[in-house]
Amino acid sequence: MAEIGKDVRRAKSYLEKGELVAIPTETVYGLAANALDPMAVAKIFIAKERPSFDPLIIHVSSVDQAIHFVDPIPDQARELINHFWPGPLTILLPKKSIIPDIVTSGLSTVGIRCPDHHLTQQLLKSLPFPLAAPSANPFGYISPTSAQHVQDQLGSKINYILDGGPCEIGLESTIIGFEEGSTVLYRRGGINEDQITKVVGPIKLKLSSSSNPLAPGQLESHYAPRKMFLLGDIESLEKKYSNVRKGVLRFQQNSNPQKDTLYLSKSGDLNEAAKNLFTLLRQLDNMEVDIILAEPVPEVGIGKAINDRLRRAAVKQE
Ligand code: TXA
Ligand code: MG
Repeated sequence: MAEIGKDVRRAKSYLEKGELVAIPTETVYGLAANALDPMAVAKIFIAKERPSFDPLIIHVSSVDQAIHFVDPIPDQARELINHFWPGPLTILLPKKSIIPDIVTSGLSTVGIRCPDHHLTQQLLKSLPFPLAAPSANPFGYISPTSAQHVQDQLGSKINYILDGGPCEIGLESTIIGFEEGSTVLYRRGGINEDQITKVVGPIKLKLSSSSNPLAPGQLESHYAPRKMFLLGDIESLEKKYSNVRKGVLRFQQNSNPQKDTLYLSKSGDLNEAAKNLFTLLRQLDNMEVDIILAEPVPEVGIGKAINDRLRRAAVKQE
């Protein structure tokens, strides 16, 4: 099992030796390695059993560090960086040749972000290289939002988990890029669409589509529990699956607590719901039930990102 602790120097020494360390961020825990060392980066793909065509994002401590790894940084990107870094916004920019091809799966752009977590900031400031880090979960499973989540699934494959407590936001970063002068949203996440458009004006959406399932960042089935997971109206799903043991995930609690039912936010707060989402999905996956039923949350603000994760976790119904 991995050692869990808050020792930034210990994390640093493993990373300098080309080893993997799980790091806390405000979104989810990352599985980090020296982004400039292809052998270290290869260990990430192996530990996660992640296909080599799915590129990683790199983490820096500031925009001053970012300029060593990406060029050019267009004006819209600068504006977004000024508003949202450190924070849950990843920007796709042309990579400099110092970033190995294994990080970007051969693409000419690299996703870059500056995480807002004091331990990881300290760590990044102490290192002479950026950190490549996908979410620290086995490929396709639910992302981790606590040190224990990482331990439960990848503990045998990594040396050290830097414990920064539960993740404040609980959903992955928003991913933005630029195509022919337009700002493009590739993944919904911690910063919502309205916050982005306030800064750079209208944006294009290029979210996952089943017609293009293998485009980077766009894999449709993701974030999924192992149990059969169904999304829809809870009352009708309960009727349809009356003969099996059901775990239920509801947005808010409108009545007395129900058996085998978990609530994303008792009071109906979307930020709290985002923060609890992955923990509760894991809890339901470990319950003595046969299937999991869930309902969408209101499609506003960060609710759109929550619904995106719920849809990707769910099996398709006719
Ligand atoms: O919040 C986050 O972004 C977390 C924390 C650890 O920072 N990281 C994260 O990484 O969610 P990951 O690898 O689980 O998701 C990053 C997504 C992947 O779906 C990948 O395909 C996409 O970003 N991506 C990375 N680089 C890309 C690129 N150059 N072009 C298109 N998509 C890219
Ligand atoms: Mg991930």
